[in-house]
Amino acid sequence: MSLPGDPTSRDILERIIRVDHAGEYGAQRIYQGQIDVLGRGPRGDVLRHMQAQEQHHLDTFAGLIAERRVRPTALLPLWHVAGYALGALTAAMGERAAMACTVAVEEAIDEHYQAQAASLGEDEAPLRDTIEKFRGEELEHRAIGIEHEAEKAVGYSLMRAAIKAGCRVAIAVSERI
Ligand SMILES: [Fe+2]
Ligand SMILES: [Fe+2]
Repeated sequence: MSLPGDPTSRDILERIIRVDHAGEYGAQRIYQGQIDVLGRGPRGDVLRHMQAQEQHHLDTFAGLIAERRVRPTALLPLWHVAGYALGALTAAMGERAAMACTVAVEEAIDEHYQAQAASLGEDEAPLRDTIEKFRGEELEHRAIGIEHEAEKAVGYSLMRAAIKAGCRVAIAVSERI
């Protein structure tokens, strides 16, 4: 159990950078799947806007992987395929379903980033600030999803719960593997 202000252990730090790199990688792939299906439609621009932010998040964590010498997750090839599939499938179900996917994913990431920020000590204040900044952008993505009628997607509650559960599993395994 760590208290705020405690120095961050190397183990915690590695897990944080590994899983966030994995998550942003997956997020970028989700939007790629959605853009390939819906990119020419009315939601194309907003999807590209969110993808560009995910790309920036990904680039930032890729930089930290190199700089802090953290081993990336061995599961990147899985997130490459699974992220894309989740994006393309929800997009194929319709624009509202695609937005419901964003709401679910971003809610899971918000909880995850919040917990991480709390586990980082003062010695890792810059990383904590980065996570808090990205968390703000993920919450904007969630708001965009709601604004574009995510809640009116057919089977919204079930889909949201299933995708959030999937994200939590992906997070747990990507911290370690
Ligand atoms: Fe992100
Ligand atoms: Fe996001």
